[in-house]
Amino acid sequence: MKVAIGADHGGFDLKEEVVAFLKGLGHQVEDLGCYSKDSVDYPLYAKKVIELVKDREVERGILICGTGIGMSIVANRTPGIRAALCHELFTAEMSRRHNNSNILCMGGRVIGPSLALAMVKVWLETPFDGGRHERRLCQIDPDDSMCQD
Ligand code: RB5
Repeated sequence: MKVAIGADHGGFDLKEEVVAFLKGLGHQVEDLGCYSKDSVDYPLYAKKVIELVKDREVERGILICGTGIGMSIVANRTPGIRAALCHELFTAEMSRRHNNSNILCMGGRVIGPSLALAMVKVWLETPFDGGRHERRLCQIDPDDSMCQD
């Protein structure tokens, strides 16, 4: 799968772990930065990932800041983006099954790498349930391509 990933300084260490993990699983990773622990502004990195997901140049995006909150606020302002801020496995799975999330947000200062990698794996592998959940998503955004048939 093609996956874009972005982080600020608060998510940099976890991003590095996730990039290596994704590559190890054979995914094609677009690492859009940041590339050091120097302080940067999370909206700039969120927007790089959001663009690629919105334009369907990648299938999924992952955004990591200190808490994941700033990244999720930025991402969910964009039509077509369904960003899920998750801190454990259940919501990571359910964000796919019920919400068809296309961006996973995590907090590098909230969760450790082993939990984060397990969340990334379940999030990438879990399909959308569709049905009543698709109807509900189309009530949020009727213009989404998912709602155009
Ligand atoms: C940066 O210090 C921090 O505010 C940022 O990583 C994030 O947690 C914002 O939501």
